Amino acid sequence: MRGAGRGKAVDEPALLSIEGVSASFGKRRILDDVSFTVEPSSIVAVTGRSGAGKTTLLGIISGLMKPDGGRVVYKGQNILKWGDFKRSRFRNREIGFVFQFFNLLPDMTSYQNIFYPAIISPRSRNLKEKVDYLVGYLGLEKILHQYPATLSGGERQRVAVARAIINNPRIILADEPTGNLDERSANDILSLFKKLRDENGMAIVIATHDSRTVASADVHFNIDDARLQRIEPPERRKKSRRGR
Ligand SMILES: Nc1ncnc2c1ncn2[C@@H]1O[C@H](COP(=O)(O)OP(=O)(O)O)[C@@H](O)[C@H]1O
Ligand SMILES: [Mg+2]
Repeated sequence: MRGAGRGKAVDEPALLSIEGVSASFGKRRILDDVSFTVEPSSIVAVTGRSGAGKTTLLGIISGLMKPDGGRVVYKGQNILKWGDFKRSRFRNREIGFVFQFFNLLPDMTSYQNIFYPAIISPRSRNLKEKVDYLVGYLGLEKILHQYPATLSGGERQRVAVARAIINNPRIILADEPTGNLDERSANDILSLFKKLRDENGMAIVIATHDSRTVASADVHFNIDDARLQRIEPPERRKKSRRGR
């Protein structure tokens, strides 16, 4: 039973729950009555063909996009009821974003890119120490003073992950983060996500096409024809068959 493990009280709300969310662009329904929960220390993979609504779903989770209906509940509160200020503070503080094309600021070095969200929304008093810690943790020492254009894809994505976690978010939303990386760099990013899950208790929601990312996830959902469905991993299906 999900949520019952990890010593959690039964009536404690999930970190994040999406409840009956629907979204449309014009007359086209992109998401139809979508519900799921995200627990701390978990990796959630969301798959679906291109145009299925993965990015839209991440936008709704972050409070950037308002759905037509439903609730987005963070620690027991519906964020859709919050005003713009509170929602953007939530986004800056509780959410870290990682994108397929990295979205680093081209005129800033790795170091400055990592610092940037903390300047926008300061959280840590020992910011310099925090950055130094992250740089060591993510192995970024050698590329710290380089500009994004001079970095490989894998390096850019590691800088982007550092930037995403500088404010100590509870949730990372990653939109096809390995979609533009070679296999080795993709594996590095996945290892990093697992480390953040295991050592920092972060929840990581990843929109992806990549089967390795799905295999690394604790929970897998697929969006098809605007509906979200939970997919059980083949391993578990085999095990439960054997158990019968
Ligand atoms: N701002 C927008 N206006 C109109 N249609 C949009 C907009 N954003 C996305 N869409 C459409 O919504 C559908 C879902 O898009 P998206 O969430 O980006 O899918 P995915 O990330 O799974 O590829 C697509 O058909 C896309 O064209
Ligand atoms: Mg997308």
